[in-house]
Amino acid sequence: MTASTALIQIQDLTKKFDEQQVLAGINLDVQEFDLKVVMGPSGCGKSTLLRCINRLVEPTSGEIKFRGQSTLAPTVDVRALRQSIGFVFQQFALYRHLSVLENVTLGLRKLRGMTALQAKEKALFELNRLDMSTHCDKYPAQLSGGQKQRVAIARSLAMDPAVVLFDEPTSALDPVMVREVAELFNRLRREKVTMLCVTHDLTLARMIAQRVVYLEKGVVKAEDSFENLASSHPDSEVRSFFGSDSGFSKK
Ligand SMILES: Nc1ncnc2c1ncn2[C@@H]1O[C@H](COP(=O)(O)OP(=O)(O)OP(=O)(O)O)[C@@H](O)[C@H]1O
Ligand SMILES: [Mg+2]
Repeated sequence: MTASTALIQIQDLTKKFDEQQVLAGINLDVQEFDLKVVMGPSGCGKSTLLRCINRLVEPTSGEIKFRGQSTLAPTVDVRALRQSIGFVFQQFALYRHLSVLENVTLGLRKLRGMTALQAKEKALFELNRLDMSTHCDKYPAQLSGGQKQRVAIARSLAMDPAVVLFDEPTSALDPVMVREVAELFNRLRREKVTMLCVTHDLTLARMIAQRVVYLEKGVVKAEDSFENLASSHPDSEVRSFFGSDSGFSKK
């Protein structure tokens, strides 16, 4: 991969559910080590976009390239693709009957073929990185929302993905957790984890995003820093979307 090739390149991506045009020609790049945030009104297609990237949803037309190669070709190994492109779901999707440690080791053993010992070592490393090593033997029901989210992130990072996709990482959390999540994201970015994050949360976006992509009616309407979108974007609707954050408004 040359320095100029984006890790993920999305070109003219469209998706129709029956007659409903949800994505109408998305163009978007994610560079290695980016922490890019996608925002936009409810129903504008943010989750659908993320789901197309790791083939949970099949696009109607267009192209998605990962490291320069199409992810949509019939020969693509979708399971391998999903190891390279991690996904952290809104509700964390942990296995309730497995401990924290087992939630993280499962994929390492089943998908990466590690021995139990190798998987445990790797899982402990990732849980420790997310300050969760003291909770290894607990079950998901015994964890707070923020702790569950850390386990879900540890589970994703354990697969050594090239990029992690997040769909609404703070929506199942108490508002006071947002700052903590923002700090975690910023730390992961310093550790060179590439991330693409869909969120409604203006406070989170403002605290983490290098670039914000604003989707509207299935297309990328704007892409810029949070501050520029809020203060100087030519479209007043875009400015008001980003300016309505009470934490950001210049009172
Ligand atoms: N599997 C599906 N089948 C049919 N329609 C779908 C499906 N998934 C999404 N849609 C429709 O596509 C549109 C976009 O949905 P999507 O979940 O991508 O929006 P979103 O931007 O993530 O919204 P929110 O901010 O509320 O999470 C919605 O109108 C939704 O009803
Ligand atoms: Mg969504």
